Amino acid sequence: MAGNSTGREFVVTSFGESHGRSVGVTIDGCPAGLQLTEADIQAEVDRRIPKQPKIVSGRIEKDKVQILSGVFNRFTTGAPITMIVANKDVDSRDYEAMKDLPRPGHADYTARIKYGGFNDYRGGGRFSGRITVALIMAGAVAKKLLNQFQVDVFAYTKAIGNVKLDKSLSYETVRNRRFQTPVRCPDKECAKKMEEAILTAKKEGDSLGGIIEIIAANVPPGIGEPLFDALDADIAKTLFALPAVKGVEFGAGFKAAALKGSENNDAYQLLGDKVISSTNNHGGILGGISSGMPIVIRAAVKPTPSIAKEQQTVALSTMENATLRVTGRHDPCVVPKAVPAAESVVAITLVDHLIRAGLIPKVLKEQK
Ligand SMILES: Cc1cc2nc3c(=O)[nH]c(=O)nc-3n(C[C@H](O)[C@H](O)[C@H](O)COP(=O)(O)O)c2cc1C
Repeated sequence: MAGNSTGREFVVTSFGESHGRSVGVTIDGCPAGLQLTEADIQAEVDRRIPKQPKIVSGRIEKDKVQILSGVFNRFTTGAPITMIVANKDVDSRDYEAMKDLPRPGHADYTARIKYGGFNDYRGGGRFSGRITVALIMAGAVAKKLLNQFQVDVFAYTKAIGNVKLDKSLSYETVRNRRFQTPVRCPDKECAKKMEEAILTAKKEGDSLGGIIEIIAANVPPGIGEPLFDALDADIAKTLFALPAVKGVEFGAGFKAAALKGSENNDAYQLLGDKVISSTNNHGGILGGISSGMPIVIRAAVKPTPSIAKEQQTVALSTMENATLRVTGRHDPCVVPKAVPAAESVVAITLVDHLIRAGLIPKVLKEQK
């Protein structure tokens, strides 16, 4: 059952299920000499759950990070780093009742077919949003590494349902304000409308999706390994590993299809001795290689599949049509929790490519 690892040089392996003992991650290939403590990782994990209980599920996960290996005397050693958080606030009762009735929109049916019914279905098992906690732990290490090389990755909520942030804000503002609102939108006014939209959907027994924008600033030009390990391809691949992500675009993205070449091309110009472009429709990547402009990515997140409204399904034991009303604790919109996860997987991919390009060494400078 391979498929749970990503990366060539910075290899991240995810493990654990929603209602198992723990979720975790192993990083093989992290350079030696990075100062790292559990507190560094904890700070990122703590940002996962918005402090607004009404817009997220009732499962309040007080996740305590444990580093099991790969760190000695507060520095990474170059050996595999394994990190876990225990699953504590677990309630599997609702899933026993539902195990025969696959939830429309969730992975219950496809996972049952693939694993012959042996998969741990409790809480969505491997297909739960909970696996993103582990990706955030790996992302915390990746972001710490990127920081040393002045690369900055940050994500925020661009849209929830039909509520869209249309204001153009500076990267500085986005970066500094994105976690100041529960929905992770840097504009307070828009964030309030997004929050209201989520609460209305929840009241109706329904759910909402949205769009996350991720920006990677200061990525040096020349990163990416065409053809199949193109930088955009690898970023998209890791973003699609996040449950509920259904679309990924770069720069002008799908809108570019309706533009003329003269409108879509980003004219080059000199800034001192640096080549930059006056616009960024290409989103910082051309030919699968970074251009040096900010990498701008958007991920489309679908509405949460588990909704209280009655839905049609099939009882798999009797093979009869059936109806289902999903009970249990579910996020009425997964976008706010997915923002730090999106940031993390992009950071992981960039570290892998920076190591491949020889721009992050295998051993960092000795620190006294
Ligand atoms: C952070 C996060 C939290 C999620 N929470 C829920 C949830 O509470 N209920 C649910 O039905 N789906 C939730 N999902 C989405 C499902 O896990 C996902 O839709 C499902 O695994 C099917 O995969 P797909 O949508 O990528 O095809 C969540 C996803 C993320 C990223």
